Amino acid sequence: MICLGIESSAYALAVGIINDKREILANIIYNFKPPKGMGLIPRDAAEEYSKKVYDILTEAFDNANLKPENIDLIAVTIGPGIGHCLRVGISVAKYLALRLKKPIVGVNHCIAHLEVAKMYTGFKDPLMLYVSGGNTQIITYKDGKYRVIGETLDIGIGNLFDVVAREMGYDMPGGPKIEKLAKEGKNYIEIPYTVKGIDLTFGGILTYVKNLIKSGKYKNEDIAYSLQETVFAMLMEVSERALAYTNKKEFVITGGVACNKRLQEMAKEMCKEWGVKFKPIPSELARDNGVMIAWTGLLMYKSGIRHKPEKLRELQRYRVEDVDPIWLKP
Ligand code: ATP
Ligand code: FE2
Repeated sequence: MICLGIESSAYALAVGIINDKREILANIIYNFKPPKGMGLIPRDAAEEYSKKVYDILTEAFDNANLKPENIDLIAVTIGPGIGHCLRVGISVAKYLALRLKKPIVGVNHCIAHLEVAKMYTGFKDPLMLYVSGGNTQIITYKDGKYRVIGETLDIGIGNLFDVVAREMGYDMPGGPKIEKLAKEGKNYIEIPYTVKGIDLTFGGILTYVKNLIKSGKYKNEDIAYSLQETVFAMLMEVSERALAYTNKKEFVITGGVACNKRLQEMAKEMCKEWGVKFKPIPSELARDNGVMIAWTGLLMYKSGIRHKPEKLRELQRYRVEDVDPIWLKP
């Protein structure tokens, strides 16, 4: 069975094609670039996705060497995300499903980040650290549901990196810039460390770091290095606490921030100490992509989930706990 996945929830318009043997046939990702110094403007991103979607789909079919009729299932992100952007993907997916007379399933974006990490690592029941622009969550599967047992109480960690990089004068996305600068940093600057049990907060850190930048007293490299070391240490502390609490023996990191090599290195060390298995996932599966949507769509469909195209609509605040992952049940 071959599934086409469409993702358009925020900064990426992406199309992925995968089969039920876990073979990735196409993974095309197009990122929206806001004008310098700006964040995402929903109407502009949606307009750009509407213009690009035909080309991205064509490229995916070409890469996979398939015709649209060869697809057996269409999966699309229905949330969480930005309404304007989500609607582009959903409309195209509905059209394809009706035109090709193929089934369609609506996928939760966060669950898709988790499922693709499990698919790639082969781990069955890992503790999951989901770190992206909008999300920072510690998730575990328990009693038939994915449960968020710890999370940011304000902004997501990726968002923190994006705003700090913007304050330094760099374009979006900020995370890769911070990682690059941090490699050149040598002097550690004390930064507030804010962990509360298995929860974290980044808002105070953002204000503090903005002031460091404005003071003009520190090199961007040292700020980036200190920021990264501090917030990743926070992530590791909550992950360790969650591992102790859940007794899970596998650990994955997913979401855009999971691309960061320093974070991967720290996770490797931490897991070694705990005797827990860890395997990083490649960037093109960690950040927003269509393969994760296609893969989760396949899992859903094969477990008997059916969605009516005329009923599918965007759910901007769709949480992990709102999904009943029946594909995980015996
Ligand atoms: P979500 O809806 O899941 O929050 P998203 O729209 O934030 O998704 P993702 O692709 O999952 O999209 O994550 C993007 C974030 O990842 C951005 O904030 C970006 O700065 C960050 N990021 C990407 N690469 C790196 C990196 N190498 N180091 C740190 N952060 C990174
Ligand atoms: Fe994401």
